[in-house]
Amino acid sequence: MKNNNLISINDLSNEEIFNIIHLTKKIKANKYPYRNIASRFILGNLFFQPSTRTRGSFESAMLHLGGNVINVNDINTTSIVKGEAVQDTIRMWDNYADILVLRHSNENFVKEAQGVSTIPIINAGNGEDEHPTQTLVDLFTIMCEFDTIEHLNFVICGDLKRGRAVHSLIHAALRFNNNIMLVPANGYELSSSFLNNILNQHKGKSLMRDYSSLDKLYPNKKEEIYYIKSHADWSAPYVFYMTRLQNNTPSTDINYPYIDKHLVLDFRNKDLYNNFILMHPLPRHNEIPEHMDENTHSKYFQQAANGVPVRMALIIDMLGTTL
Ligand code: CP
Repeated sequence: MKNNNLISINDLSNEEIFNIIHLTKKIKANKYPYRNIASRFILGNLFFQPSTRTRGSFESAMLHLGGNVINVNDINTTSIVKGEAVQDTIRMWDNYADILVLRHSNENFVKEAQGVSTIPIINAGNGEDEHPTQTLVDLFTIMCEFDTIEHLNFVICGDLKRGRAVHSLIHAALRFNNNIMLVPANGYELSSSFLNNILNQHKGKSLMRDYSSLDKLYPNKKEEIYYIKSHADWSAPYVFYMTRLQNNTPSTDINYPYIDKHLVLDFRNKDLYNNFILMHPLPRHNEIPEHMDENTHSKYFQQAANGVPVRMALIIDMLGTTL
């Protein structure tokens, strides 16, 4: 891992991602052997933006490892609101904790923090940029379902412009040679700089426009749906990854893609979509209605539950030899 900081999913090699997935599998099967492994350590859980899953699962993960946690849940309770510089805030936390988890609305906060920190830093979401630990959770969930994270078909829907979880996921999905179909909401397409960047990084992969198999998913926005092709097996299992509009506007206010049971039945009636799972990083608005929760294809609550063992594995990996 680059300087033992996890800022981008690209700071982890494919081998390191597989190692975390394999350790997560062991932890999920039996947490008991790991119960005291971090007992001498303190995790600083600094959330300057709201969170249910990421903050809670990092705290739970550290407690499961026998460690301690100091939480900051509100930027207004820190001296940042008195004008303290990022560098000074992080220098202080170097004294208080052994590993830092940071979430901030400004994508540069976490990047600047790694420049001054002497302890490992984990990005728990930096603005609209990346959410690498969500991607580890996603990849582990996919591995549990399909026994592979490679050569699958991803359909990634919703607010692709501002969704940090999908940005990290797209990087990882391409690195593991998956096909990706991008289904953005109207006006929320990937930025051209992001798209050009990933196409430059993955020169062997081609960008295609072909929306025919997705017309029922998002009938009013056909021209913006396109694929990034890594392989030719369109009958491989599908990961439908839905996301919410990244502000508090209900998605009924705009023409937004959504999943419901009629759509799922339609997928199942097509040979292509026999084998698929439905994922969402959560929280959701109404792009996946509650009646989908009991559907056998819906995996978003398992995905959230996997946050604890995945983050246990990541903490063990980053504390490494000091344990
Ligand atoms: N998936 C996710 O990041 O959820 P929270 O915002 O609740 O942490």
